[in-house]
Amino acid sequence: MTAPREHRRAVRVGLLGAGTVGQALLRLLVEEAVALERRAGVALEVTRVAVRDPGRRRGVGLPPGVVSADPASVVHAPDVDVVVELMGGVHPALELVMAALGEGKPVVTANKELVAAHGPELFAAAQAANVDLLFEAAVGGAIPLVRPLRESLAGEHFTRVIGIVNGTTNYILTRMSEAGLGFEAALLEAQQLGYAEREPSADLDGHDAAAKAAILASLAFGVEVRGSDVAREGIRRLDAADVAYARRLGQEVRLLAIAERVAPGPPPVVSVRVHPALVPRSHPLASVRDVNNAVFLEGAAVGELMLYGRGAGGDPTAAAVLGDLIDAAHNHGGGRPGRLAPHQPVRLQPLAERRVAIYVGLEVQDQAGVLASVAAVFGRHGVSIRSMEQIGLGEGARLAFLTHEAGEQDVAATLAELAALDAVNRVGAPLRALGPVG
Ligand code: NAP
Ligand code: HSE
Repeated sequence: MTAPREHRRAVRVGLLGAGTVGQALLRLLVEEAVALERRAGVALEVTRVAVRDPGRRRGVGLPPGVVSADPASVVHAPDVDVVVELMGGVHPALELVMAALGEGKPVVTANKELVAAHGPELFAAAQAANVDLLFEAAVGGAIPLVRPLRESLAGEHFTRVIGIVNGTTNYILTRMSEAGLGFEAALLEAQQLGYAEREPSADLDGHDAAAKAAILASLAFGVEVRGSDVAREGIRRLDAADVAYARRLGQEVRLLAIAERVAPGPPPVVSVRVHPALVPRSHPLASVRDVNNAVFLEGAAVGELMLYGRGAGGDPTAAAVLGDLIDAAHNHGGGRPGRLAPHQPVRLQPLAERRVAIYVGLEVQDQAGVLASVAAVFGRHGVSIRSMEQIGLGEGARLAFLTHEAGEQDVAATLAELAALDAVNRVGAPLRALGPVG
């Protein structure tokens, strides 16, 4: 792909995966070869590429003999100095990355699922081998988040991190809000535009955002949080009426990934959660539209800080991978691997222990006594109603409730009992308030 190695120093790259991100990376490596060599101090030469189907036509040309279907052979190849993992999924990516680190080869990955599931083991292996394990692209695509948290602001005492970290759901919510689309119509549009997968549950059910929330929490607070630790609600239960009502309240609905310090410890207590929320239109996160991502940081010294940009897509993600690759190549050629502060154990606050003000919309039968029976359920669980409005009549009657702050457990019990009432046809998704409502 590049000039013969005998004319200049080169770091030899083994690439695992040449899909959306891998192909964009290969293209950038060719197009930007001269600038990259200047910045890395060495040439970057792709010597091996592993894919599932070597026979498939790709958008980039690769010399014969470079591509194989055996990722382990790429990791172990003597002509590979740095491994770039862009396959996705936990297995076999975990075994391959561990093997590379075990051989003293630096690794660059964009795999949030892998880092969120096995970060502590991977960081320990990289530390033991004294090599880089870099994953800037795993959260927020092109937005620099990992390096600022790990290096530029390593001394900051962050108190809360709030992210819009899933572009697909943000697109769907934007279209529901601005075009009045229903959930299914907005999802279909996102699929037609190539944002949502045909099987979209990783995005819609909040798994993707939960993995990113775990990584952000680990970096911001220096603690061990895994994707499976994150309390998670997705956006499937939202409907157009909920989103329209939120707008009338001066709020936008966003799927938020929130990591918050609750108590200093030891061990520190941290809350990490993903759920749809009401975001006041005056909050900077309310202006994050379409597939864009943003992370809003609150810290003792920095105050408030927001990082914003393209959170996904081949080119933006590959740009972040390339930045890591330059660092890894530079360090491999005699620099020092990036700092990996050990993460301390943490106590995760169960969602049930939190207090929250919510909005919830109920589809009800429009009859005498229904409001009284619904209000009685809130009262029985100690959830104080702040405001209520009936929207629509007869078949389309809907009650929109805003509550004062109440325990999550009490809110959950209220919603469960409401769903069982004969007069309630449907309980909408609860929307937790991020800031003041009304
Ligand atoms: P993708 O388009 O599905 O590409 C995956 C690549 O890995 C394909 O080339 C596939 O081979 C290869 N592969 C998968 N399993 C393999 C195996 N067992 N052995 C050999 N090759 C294998 O995925 P992507 O969108 O590029 O994403 C790559 C990584 O970047 C993921 O971790 C993803 O979460 C992360 N990421 C992606 C984005 C984005 O916008 N796409 C944004 C941020 C982070 P074939 O081509 O032959 O099928
Ligand atoms: N599917 C993700 C999103 C991109 O919609 O943001 C990869 O993390």
